Amino acid sequence: MQQVLITGANRGIGFELTRQLLERGECVFAACRQPERADGLQALKSQFPDQLTIVALDVTVDAAVMAAATAVTQQTNHLDMLINNAGILYNKETVANFDPTLMQHTFEVNVFGVMRVITQFLPLLRNSSEPKLVNISSQLGSLQKANPGWKKYSYNSSKAALNMLTRMLSFEFEQDGIAVTAVHPGWVQTDMGGPEAAVTPPDSAAGILQVTDNLTLANTGKFYTFSGEEHLW
Ligand SMILES: NC(=O)c1ccc[n+]([C@@H]2O[C@H](COP(=O)([O-])OP(=O)(O)OC[C@H]3O[C@@H](n4cnc5c(N)ncnc54)[C@H](OP(=O)(O)O)[C@@H]3O)[C@@H](O)[C@H]2O)c1
Repeated sequence: MQQVLITGANRGIGFELTRQLLERGECVFAACRQPERADGLQALKSQFPDQLTIVALDVTVDAAVMAAATAVTQQTNHLDMLINNAGILYNKETVANFDPTLMQHTFEVNVFGVMRVITQFLPLLRNSSEPKLVNISSQLGSLQKANPGWKKYSYNSSKAALNMLTRMLSFEFEQDGIAVTAVHPGWVQTDMGGPEAAVTPPDSAAGILQVTDNLTLANTGKFYTFSGEEHLW
């Protein structure tokens, strides 16, 4: 049985990853900002009381990330997989009305938040016999696939930064045996992706889990699509 921590687990792709992992029999620490308002997770808790722990965690708050790591450490001595899924996207950005606070907040969640979580949960990952670190990125963070139709300045640049972090962390963590990957989850029908999106959350999550099942030190440091193909950086 794997022990997995997922950020942003209360809705969207994070919720679906949580649900599917529980159905597979894994043990999930589902992290979200407001556990008391996470109705879907509370319902899963009734269904899987022994496998699911709901953890309060806002990735932008140092103290909250530390408290979450302490709470998880009181329950287990290791994590087999950390999925950095929490993310935000501000849609209406142009150069003309550029608002630096939106870019700062985007980086605060999508980049600094990921590093905060990794640094606090690293000791637990290091205790696993087969540890995996998974960053949910986006095709919009790909420099090689950048195109003029996708002008989401803060989001795209934050995911490009996340991709570079994925590469650098894969080098750093190889000696610890931690396999690292970035995954593009598809254009998914969530609050972020909208109802017109091409992929359902169950299909996205199933694909992501197949990618993580195949993740080892032999393919660490790569960027995959949810359907298992390597993505251009
Ligand atoms: N949907 C797509 O088409 C698509 C495409 C490419 C990549 N992605 C990536 O996939 C991941 C999940 O996206 P999604 O579509 O599931 O988005 P979503 O439905 O908007 O859910 C975003 C999740 O992130 C959480 N979150 C936001 N700010 C947070 C913070 N400060 N601390 C902790 N959690 C926070 C949200 O929690 P609250 O409920 O508390 O706000 C929510 O659980 C993101 O990294 C996104 O960039 C999505």
